[in-house]
Amino acid sequence: MKLGTPLSASAVKVMLLGSGELGKEVAIELQRLGVEVIAVDRYADAPAMQVAHRSHVIAMTDAAALRALVLAERPHLIVPEIEAIATDELARIEADGLAVVIPTALAAQLTMNREGIRRLAAEELGLPTSPYRFASSLEELVAGASAVGYPCFVKPVMSSSGKGQSYVQDEAEVEAAWAYALSAGRVEQARVIVEGRIDFDFEITQLTVRSLGADGQIETSFCAPIGHRQVKGDYVESWQPQAMSPLALERSRDMAARVTEALGGRGLFGVELFVSGDEVWFSEVSPRPHDTGLVTLATQTYSEFALHARAILGLPVDASLREPGASAVIYGGMEARGVAFEGVAEALKVPTADLRLFGKPEAFERRRMGVALARGEDTDQARQRALQAANCVRVVAG
Ligand SMILES: Nc1ncnc2c1ncn2[C@@H]1O[C@H](COP(=O)(O)OP(=O)(O)OP(=O)(O)O)[C@@H](O)[C@H]1O
Ligand SMILES: [Mg+2]
Repeated sequence: MKLGTPLSASAVKVMLLGSGELGKEVAIELQRLGVEVIAVDRYADAPAMQVAHRSHVIAMTDAAALRALVLAERPHLIVPEIEAIATDELARIEADGLAVVIPTALAAQLTMNREGIRRLAAEELGLPTSPYRFASSLEELVAGASAVGYPCFVKPVMSSSGKGQSYVQDEAEVEAAWAYALSAGRVEQARVIVEGRIDFDFEITQLTVRSLGADGQIETSFCAPIGHRQVKGDYVESWQPQAMSPLALERSRDMAARVTEALGGRGLFGVELFVSGDEVWFSEVSPRPHDTGLVTLATQTYSEFALHARAILGLPVDASLREPGASAVIYGGMEARGVAFEGVAEALKVPTADLRLFGKPEAFERRRMGVALARGEDTDQARQRALQAANCVRVVAG
């Protein structure tokens, strides 16, 4: 792909489907290479829209609207940033040769539904996972939960960031978990996965890049493992590198290579794994930059966003770690439009600290509004600094 001049006939055009904080960083990296960036989301003034050449507000789950927009813009590449997209239409767009879907339309289809990716990983590739069952009714869920054993997790098959997810300790709690999953699932479809709990020491994100090698073949590169802490299914803190045994790291990378190869295409993937000693279980995969990978803005020679931009454009990548570091999330803590941030100067006085404030037009209690980043001699020091910086920042009414 020959890079050109934005807003001219030679432009390489990239359409982002989803324009949140991860898309914003991808857009900035694409802008740096002179790519024409078209940001799309279901609401106006989304973070990536603020750094794109232009933007559109559409329901991305609406197949006709999505196709019409692609026909109007004719991007070379379509880069999904979220799961809730009309992925069957993406497959038709790809099949019709209208645009290249990153990494592939198949990857978007399989990963938008927990059933697709779980069956691929566990049943086709034979990767170790938690025991699981799918259920479309309360009766099936009760049977599935007793099959996988308590405690277990109940999750809508179409949901992310912990939405609709319950931790279930015994049969008495199953009915509430079913009702909660139905209330929070992305679509009206009543279907959940119930997973037995894996008693892990820690969990990691293995960022994995599929890029074009010098010989024109796809090459797989691995970033240093990222450790993270989740609260209610949402990440609150991440650090890199996560210390782990050489065997567990080898197994992690082997699984990451296999699952990303099955999804295909070019780009960066976030492979979520559970680790206990030398044992590793596959959890899920995002065929795009991962929220826990925000830490790479502080730690790597090229962040996960720069790596994604390079990989999708067919350029070489360098996934090396530069320094240990950490990220800590800044939540809205309130519901308001046009919020302001206090304590930014104090936060930036913490040694090595940096901030990303995403510019989201509206805050919610548990909405991620920004992230603090820090480096350190080791991840303990970096974590302490990132948390300290994040704690300095207070979201207030604007
Ligand atoms: N089977 C399991 N055993 C142990 N912990 C689990 C299991 N399933 C989920 N968890 C915990 O819940 C977290 C969120 O689960 P999962 O990644 O499946 O949800 P999600 O909604 O896709 O979250 P996100 O979109 O933020 O990745 C995991 O990172 C892990 O901490
Ligand atoms: Mg997850």
